[in-house]
Amino acid sequence: MSKKIFLRTFGCQMNDRDSEFVMGLLLEKGYLKAESPEEADVVLFNTCSVRKHAEDRAISNMGAFLKKKRRHLKIYGIIGCSAQALKKGLFERLPDLDLICGTGEIAKLPELIVKAFQEKIIAVGNINRPLPELKSTYRQGKKSTHVSIMRGCDNFCSYCVVPYVRGRERSRKAEDITSEIKDLVRRGIKDIMLLGQNVNSYKDKTCNFVELLKLVNDVKGIEKITFFTSHPKDATVKLFEAIRDLDKVRKHLHLPLQSGSNRILKLMNRGYTREKYLDLVTRAKHIIPGLFLGTDMIVGFPSESDKDFNDTLDLVKKVRFDGAYIFKYSPRAGTGAAGMKDEVSEDTKKRRHRTLLDLQREISKRKKHEKADRCHASHSLSR
Ligand code: SAH
Ligand code: SF4
Ligand code: F3S
Repeated sequence: MSKKIFLRTFGCQMNDRDSEFVMGLLLEKGYLKAESPEEADVVLFNTCSVRKHAEDRAISNMGAFLKKKRRHLKIYGIIGCSAQALKKGLFERLPDLDLICGTGEIAKLPELIVKAFQEKIIAVGNINRPLPELKSTYRQGKKSTHVSIMRGCDNFCSYCVVPYVRGRERSRKAEDITSEIKDLVRRGIKDIMLLGQNVNSYKDKTCNFVELLKLVNDVKGIEKITFFTSHPKDATVKLFEAIRDLDKVRKHLHLPLQSGSNRILKLMNRGYTREKYLDLVTRAKHIIPGLFLGTDMIVGFPSESDKDFNDTLDLVKKVRFDGAYIFKYSPRAGTGAAGMKDEVSEDTKKRRHRTLLDLQREISKRKKHEKADRCHASHSLSR
């Protein structure tokens, strides 16, 4: 009888796409999808290492499953970013775990799972594997889907674990991307999100990100294109013009700010100042009518003072984002900031998180109303 697989995903869209890829490989090998971990023969968690809290929650969830484990009948594995970050340390934390598979080895999961029924397996080798390996035709969505255009990151923002767990930045060939998208269109998928940690630095031999957007926009049958994520240091006026001019591209830009303080931005190794950021979004808003602008911010980075935090509040008031994800800084082993002194207390992080969240909620609400009013006004005008 076919074995059943249960796969739970934590973390970002790139992890969602990796899970879909892994599921595709396993379905091709004859596995069936399990609806619950109880009915599965293989239970996998594809994990995220970007913040400690989320990482610990995934590991303790897995720990709870392992308590109920029926020996040798089931395989439990942790794959993805936490597997890559913690390596065999995961066996120390979860002695009954059967399989650890890092981000560079996921294409080998079918073989690794077979072996894991016999012995404990750990595969955390090459995180810089070339990309053509990561092909699988399985898609969960019937109408919309993710298309990975690159992998890894070279920016080494000092708080961030991603470059250490996903390796160096590698871009897929533009022709591979467009042929994948053409295939998706043939299967009825018309809404796609192009994925990369920093899509603006996409680079194929003949093609940069703006040119890639044009190629994708030209694919017959595609109706909606979004992309995720942009880095402010690589976002350009040409990109904003492309968003404005390309008819399938949604007028949506996610441009992580992280902090509004120049001192903290420098410590974070972000490569821009608050002035540059403000100038950039002012241009973006001017060029793209009706732009939806989103961002990420971190509070409580080491040594962040009240003045630094007030700089962030001030910039948020000036920019007026439509939406924002706000995180409390979480030190990650091996990153540049991990050894920085002057930690901000948990209480202060909580307070700043609350303050920034309240401010952003208020701005998001007002902007929504303003957009609705404008929409209403233009309807009245056109009547
Ligand atoms: N490549 C994307 C971000 C990937 S991580 C980019 O550059 O925008 C998603 C978000 O998690 C980041 O934008 C940042 O706001 C947050 N983040 C990353 N590392 C963090 C840490 N150590 N503590 C708290 N938040 C973090
Ligand atoms: Fe992390 Fe910075 Fe790379 Fe984004 S750009 S993944 S925040 S190192
Ligand atoms: Fe994504 Fe988390 Fe890995 S944000 S790249 S799943 S560390």
